[in-house]
Amino acid sequence: MRCPLSEEYPMEKVLRQLPDRLLPWFAENRRDLPWRRDREPYHIWVSEIMLQQTRVEAVRDYYARFLEALPTVADLAKAPDDGLGKLWEGLGYYSRMRNLRAAAQVVQEKWNGQIPRDYDAVRSLPGIGDYTAGAICSIAFDMPTPAVDGNVLRVLARVLADSRPVDLPAVRREAREALAAVYPEGRCGDFTQALMELGATVCIPNGAPQCGRCPLADLCQARATGQWRELPCRLPKRKRRQEDWTVFILDCGGRFALEQRGPSGLLAGLWQFPNVPGTLGSQAALDQAARWGTEPTDFQRSADRTHIFTHIQWNLRCCRIVCRQAIPAFRWMTAEEIRAQVPLPTAFRQFLDFL
Ligand code: ADE
Ligand code: SF4
Repeated sequence: MRCPLSEEYPMEKVLRQLPDRLLPWFAENRRDLPWRRDREPYHIWVSEIMLQQTRVEAVRDYYARFLEALPTVADLAKAPDDGLGKLWEGLGYYSRMRNLRAAAQVVQEKWNGQIPRDYDAVRSLPGIGDYTAGAICSIAFDMPTPAVDGNVLRVLARVLADSRPVDLPAVRREAREALAAVYPEGRCGDFTQALMELGATVCIPNGAPQCGRCPLADLCQARATGQWRELPCRLPKRKRRQEDWTVFILDCGGRFALEQRGPSGLLAGLWQFPNVPGTLGSQAALDQAARWGTEPTDFQRSADRTHIFTHIQWNLRCCRIVCRQAIPAFRWMTAEEIRAQVPLPTAFRQFLDFL
């Protein structure tokens, strides 16, 4: 593979050409997305947090509903747990939502509800890293602050045939610095979004990139050498930790047991169906229900499903058990109440059809 920094193919010389290639292409090819209709910093911020680790199509409806319910930073700063939980339910990565509100409280108190026009101040807010600070400042404030995400790293790795692992912080930092030097004045937001858009719609992650309609095709080393399959390079993945749990749907006269998760760790503070470690058979599950004091009468059915987080996989067995005692250690609610009121993460929501 050709060295990206060699005399014959210097990185800077290539990157300097990006704005003239990408801006006209973006003007023609930009998707009409809800968060591209204005440049209100609060809107950009909410969209970028939602778009972390989540696909554009999944975010659309959440974004509209969220801003309808919480139209200003002040509204977000004082949003109650359960209300916020319902707005985020199903989006996943719930720490994003808690950080978003914590950051709104800082903005409210420290900057009178106005997101500061200052990269370091934005970067210092909870839940905002280099990528998100770069996106907000370039899109909302037209600052030359790159937002280097997986899309952008993929495009750069391919254009430059750069085979260094993109997970390395040094590689990301270099990409940020090199891009910052070529940001087009007055078009910073469009340049950020054009880079992302090329990675999301043309130089795509799974399957063949559409080099035939790529505005960078004649610059691109991966295209010239057919190396796109090998780029970007990644460090070897660590295997997800496997956790086995048995989840209980305890039915006491049409009300079902729920409990709130602890204040820290995975899915902190959200609601769940009662569960215990391990994969229990029907008798062991009945015994567990009896130990809680729910006086189980009938084991009805079970099903096995999985839920995947970034670093952990949950292997879940769900057991539906009829019982007589609605013990006060759990909250007992009807199926309708659960659907309407309780922020239930997807890992547990997949068992709603057991109610
Ligand atoms: N992914 C992250 N930020 C995005 C944006 N502003 N538009 C489309 N996709 C994105
Ligand atoms: Fe990606 Fe192909 Fe464009 Fe190169 S030419 S940046 S591989 S889509």
